Amino acid sequence: MPSLTAKPSTPATPSGYCALSSGLLQLSEKALASYYCLPDSGTTPQLLCSRGATPSADAMARLREQGYGRVLITEKEFPALSERLVGKTGAILTDTRLSQAERFSMLLAARSNEAETVQRLLKPIRLVGLAKQAAEDIFELLHAGRVAPAELFHAPRFGSRWLIHGANVACYSVLLGIATGIQDQEDLRRLAIAAMLHDLGQRCDGDKEYAKLTREEKQDAHDSHPQRGFEELLGDSDLDRRQLMVVYQHHESLDGGGFPVGVLQDEIAPWAMMVRVVDEFDELTTVEPGRAKPNPETAFRKLRERAGKDLNTEMLRCWMQVMSKA
Ligand SMILES: [Fe+2]
Ligand SMILES: [Fe+2]
Repeated sequence: MPSLTAKPSTPATPSGYCALSSGLLQLSEKALASYYCLPDSGTTPQLLCSRGATPSADAMARLREQGYGRVLITEKEFPALSERLVGKTGAILTDTRLSQAERFSMLLAARSNEAETVQRLLKPIRLVGLAKQAAEDIFELLHAGRVAPAELFHAPRFGSRWLIHGANVACYSVLLGIATGIQDQEDLRRLAIAAMLHDLGQRCDGDKEYAKLTREEKQDAHDSHPQRGFEELLGDSDLDRRQLMVVYQHHESLDGGGFPVGVLQDEIAPWAMMVRVVDEFDELTTVEPGRAKPNPETAFRKLRERAGKDLNTEMLRCWMQVMSKA
């Protein structure tokens, strides 16, 4: 299997900054925020171009020389940038000068600010609407052009963990769905939406913010999130049974050791088994703030140990093949 870490190792993002795809420089003639890059040696970002200015040829060349495909923005400036990008999602989706990975990174940035706001307000209905929009973007992105899974994996992401995790799982589920033979575009669109919503129950924490919960309360919130998400979505007439079962069963295991019910292999819906594989993969390759992205090979090793017990062996094999495509 070709190595997914063949590209130059990406340095950790310095504290106080977020990394976005350098395709951002092509999206608008004038800089949408102040852009920074990391010099070859050292960890202090250098200003490439101030907000509102046109990036110089020199700035573009410096960014290209680095070869990481990412540009730094201060966390302080990110919410305003996110709002500016919301109005550009149509352009992001259709700009063929940008790679899918660049577009994925920017679509996430565009939805990020709204996701933060809606999560703080604890309005599940607005969160569902936002998740559906983000899933539609991802479906459009993936079915519009040649897909390079490894590039998508390495695309820089910034925003709330809920949004990034949902978007990753939606993106990976569509890729795995195609690889397992789902050809119907409407099915793939529905799979993207279900995957984006799979952890909705993690956000239905009543009026108490997650960070303030006790350890026992956090455990309880985790154990009950499939059931809570499922109940939250039951009345949504846009969703079919396959999508609801993704939300309800995405932590069920083949050997009956999963939750919320502990059903056995035959009773787990195929889409839920599929989402489980990429959900676990994303959990194992999550970037901790200030640290480099974990190696996917390590994640594969851990997942292989669970094949046939928690995870469907064939789907895991298929996913590893998908991710090996350059
Ligand atoms: Fe979950
Ligand atoms: Fe998840």
